[in-house]
Amino acid sequence: MAAPSTGTPLAAHTKTPQLKHSAWIEVNLDNLQHNLGELEKHSKVPVLPVLKGDAYGHGAPAIAAFLKKQGYKRLAVSTVDEALPIVRKVRDVSILLLTPPLPDQLDLVCKYRLTPTVCTGKLIHQLTAIAKAKGQRTSVELKIDTGLGRLGARLEEIPMLAALIKKTPWLKLQGVFTHFSAAFADPVFTRYQLSQLLEVRTLLQAHGWHELYWHAANSAAFVLYPESHLNLVRIGTLLYGQSPVPLDDSWQLLPTWECKARIIQIRQFAKGETIGYGREYRTKRPVRAGIIPLGYSHGLMLEPEKSPWRQIGSVVGRVIISPPSPISHNKKPLPILGRIGMGLTCVDLSSVPELEEGDVVTAAMRRVTASQSLPKIYLVGGRLRQEYP
Ligand SMILES: Cc1ncc(COP(=O)(O)O)c(C=O)c1O
Repeated sequence: MAAPSTGTPLAAHTKTPQLKHSAWIEVNLDNLQHNLGELEKHSKVPVLPVLKGDAYGHGAPAIAAFLKKQGYKRLAVSTVDEALPIVRKVRDVSILLLTPPLPDQLDLVCKYRLTPTVCTGKLIHQLTAIAKAKGQRTSVELKIDTGLGRLGARLEEIPMLAALIKKTPWLKLQGVFTHFSAAFADPVFTRYQLSQLLEVRTLLQAHGWHELYWHAANSAAFVLYPESHLNLVRIGTLLYGQSPVPLDDSWQLLPTWECKARIIQIRQFAKGETIGYGREYRTKRPVRAGIIPLGYSHGLMLEPEKSPWRQIGSVVGRVIISPPSPISHNKKPLPILGRIGMGLTCVDLSSVPELEEGDVVTAAMRRVTASQSLPKIYLVGGRLRQEYP
């Protein structure tokens, strides 16, 4: 079987894939483009794509390159560390750092012309000194904590911080933003947070700040609160084909990320044999099983941290009904037999007698915690590519 090269035809969807990988993540850039169109259809203001968490597990440099091609030159990530792989691969993109950089990262901020978030006078002074030493004017944004209780300056500090920025020719204030804590669940508090940001906007506009970006909306707020769109929206989840809140039928999002693996061995087990570590699973009938080269080291079944109540709920749920298998073929779940191993998992193939060794199954997992060791394959223009760009 030939390995895919740039422009390999769409073959991984057929029974015998043109791939040498055992397991991989397929990033569907055609669907990403479609989702971008959906966002544009629903937005009157520019969209700032959020690429934190390695672009939600899609591979940030590739997503940045693709978005740039679609005309999106302004992007957002969390930290300097997240920005570097992008700027080293993609030229002429402007990256907003959604968190304040550390003092020893300010050199890199200037070198790569990143736009840092600032929340304190101390950081403004430190950045001014570095920007001046390098002779390079640097754009910054101010973040207000209106109730999330994480990063940000307090409301009453903003006029003083804006004045500090205005005083120095080495910094340029580009925008002011806040982040909602429960836009998916709490309309009263979300509207309160928005009102706080608007209060600051009125105040700064009275002091002559007219050309700023004002932003608050993430995916949930984008859908639920059009009044929160202001003049820029920061979108991650919707772009990558998921929604934190129910969508009406004016939306049609498509999935952009899929983990796939090939069956590396097919086994016949007799009734009464045990499968996997700990001998926890014993066959109740003869079983045709497939071994998949994916396990917990790849993120399979890696559950997000849950509140104690949800943990109790999920334990009770497991006793009453077993959770659906994350492994499927053509949307048909393939039950997992025995424990998931570090790199191997055994599934029941009884419902899919047509599957053979080498055939492809799909594995559901959290995108951001899926292992970086899984190669990414890009689907673009209906063709699979080993690399993008
Ligand atoms: C500050 C900030 N803005 C926007 C987003 C995008 O959020 P979402 O994925 O809900 O669109 C994030 C992601 O967590 C974020 O941290």
